[in-house]
Amino acid sequence: SLPTQDELKALVGRAALQYVEPDSIVGVGTGSTVNKFIDALAGVKERIRGAVSSSEASTARLRALGITVFDANDVDALAVYIDGADEIDPRGYMIKGGGAALTREKIVASMAARFVCIADASKQVEVLGRFPLPVEVIPMAARQITRRFAALGGQARLRLQGGQPLVTDNGQHLLDVHGLHIDAPLAFESEVNQWPGVVTVGVFAHQKATLCLLGTAQGVQTLRF
Ligand code: A5P
Repeated sequence: SLPTQDELKALVGRAALQYVEPDSIVGVGTGSTVNKFIDALAGVKERIRGAVSSSEASTARLRALGITVFDANDVDALAVYIDGADEIDPRGYMIKGGGAALTREKIVASMAARFVCIADASKQVEVLGRFPLPVEVIPMAARQITRRFAALGGQARLRLQGGQPLVTDNGQHLLDVHGLHIDAPLAFESEVNQWPGVVTVGVFAHQKATLCLLGTAQGVQTLRF
């Protein structure tokens, strides 16, 4: 029978272990695919120094499994950052932030020499934008940023949790922007980054994947960008 999506996530989570260097500190992302990686990492925890984490959720999971979590400010550089994606295109550009952790994900990714993306095949797209683009914003700027996206043909909606605006790990709000067709991800990311009140845009183009371990029914496919 065909592997389930959960099995594909576990497959690529385990496959990512081959990019973890002995005695290193590993950059760890957020999400259901990364959770499989964290579980696999626990099996080799004696061989690493620890992790820098991209969310409170991943930090809690790492610590529960006995993996040391370092403050990003106490670490100079990371060899590798391992994280999932909501979409990945043929050039390794991604949309991230479905799990609301995009700001710390981009920070930890920027500390690493290589970004290893782990994803099941459903995340592969030709053009970014079918998945609503997450954008972390300073709350007082939400309406102004919504108007700016409308001018680009996007419909921004404030992300809610239990009927209230979702508050990120950084105490800010999130917009999910529908209807975008992001065919120039580098330029798009640069442009949106200029808008006052934008904390982080969920396009990872300047911080793109170095390689992607893609979980398919035929096994793990390695895409290099
Ligand atoms: C978290 O903010 C996101 O960037 C995740 O990397 C993304 O949502 C992938 O999550 P899953 O592995 O759960 O699909």
